[in-house]
Amino acid sequence: MTSFVLGIESSCDESSVALVNEKYEVLYHLTSSQSDLHAEYGGVVPELASRRHIVEIFRLLHKLQQKHPSLYEDINAVAVTCTPGLIGSLLIGVETAKTLALCLNTSLIPVNHLKAHLFAASFDVNITFPFLGVIVSGGHTLLCIVKSYDDLTVVAQSCDDAVGEAYDKVAKVLDYGYPGGPVIDKIHQQYQGEYIDFPQPMKNRLDFSLSGLKTAVIRYVLQNSPLDENMCKKVAASFQETILEMMRHKIMKALQKYPVDTVVVVGGVSANKGLRIRLKELPVSVIFPSFEYCTDNAAMVAGLGMWYYQCKQRILLPGTDEFLKLNACPTSQL
Ligand code: KG4
Ligand code: ZN
Repeated sequence: MTSFVLGIESSCDESSVALVNEKYEVLYHLTSSQSDLHAEYGGVVPELASRRHIVEIFRLLHKLQQKHPSLYEDINAVAVTCTPGLIGSLLIGVETAKTLALCLNTSLIPVNHLKAHLFAASFDVNITFPFLGVIVSGGHTLLCIVKSYDDLTVVAQSCDDAVGEAYDKVAKVLDYGYPGGPVIDKIHQQYQGEYIDFPQPMKNRLDFSLSGLKTAVIRYVLQNSPLDENMCKKVAASFQETILEMMRHKIMKALQKYPVDTVVVVGGVSANKGLRIRLKELPVSVIFPSFEYCTDNAAMVAGLGMWYYQCKQRILLPGTDEFLKLNACPTSQL
């Protein structure tokens, strides 16, 4: 029988809604990025993000209903990102989803944003458990063994900055705007010169630390300022080269300790073309989501929501205690 899950995502600076059916086909996926709003600050300003979400989520829902007029009769559940993320941003999505589910008398499915990122890789490929999950986003950097989307063990994480955050901070000091990842990736692809030898972060450990590398890059820029265009490109390309080597090395190390056949790389930084090429060197199957599902999107939320719906897990019925108590939480354990 046909079933539909509506997904809502608002954990950071992307407002997004999507409709997924029982075959995990993404029928509609509408995302509104706020990068224009945050660009002048070089990073996300939480208060501005929440204010934009409250406008954009409803605009996108209205647009989705125009595309699929029977939306509110058809949906079997509303899946929403509840954690982790910016609290003000999360609250907009959670409040919207609870209201819809209560008024439509339909189920509510709370979704963890990081698990949804992991799910994003499975729209195009059939992924078998267990796999090594690599989450590299603006807020998180972690490696986990995934036996199911509800049975994950974190085996490494960042002690300080996330990889995406380091990209954004390096881009800010080089005046490349926000988000920094795509610009630096493009420069790295075109760069043909020598690399600056930045320190490899915590080479002997599985955990990540990005702040030392970030500081080394910033110190290099300050000591050699003003940098001309070519020097800026050299710094950006060398930074990315260090990140790519770090990722290859850490994943190899994790695979030696936790041997699995498949590595699934997700999150905003998984859109990095250099990273995709470098990780193809690994002696296992390496899977990435399609580009549109790397950065934050509601398709992955609706997709994981459909998985829970079909497994009959995490379904909150309207009006029940669990439903009423559902809240947003800025931090989460996987
Ligand atoms: O997953 P995401 O959309 O949001 C979070 O959950 O944090 O990730 C956003 C991050 C930003 O830091 C952005 O600079 C980075 O992903 N990013 C990239 C690329 N595209 C986006 N980093 C490296 N290379 C890219 N092509
Ligand atoms: Zn994300």
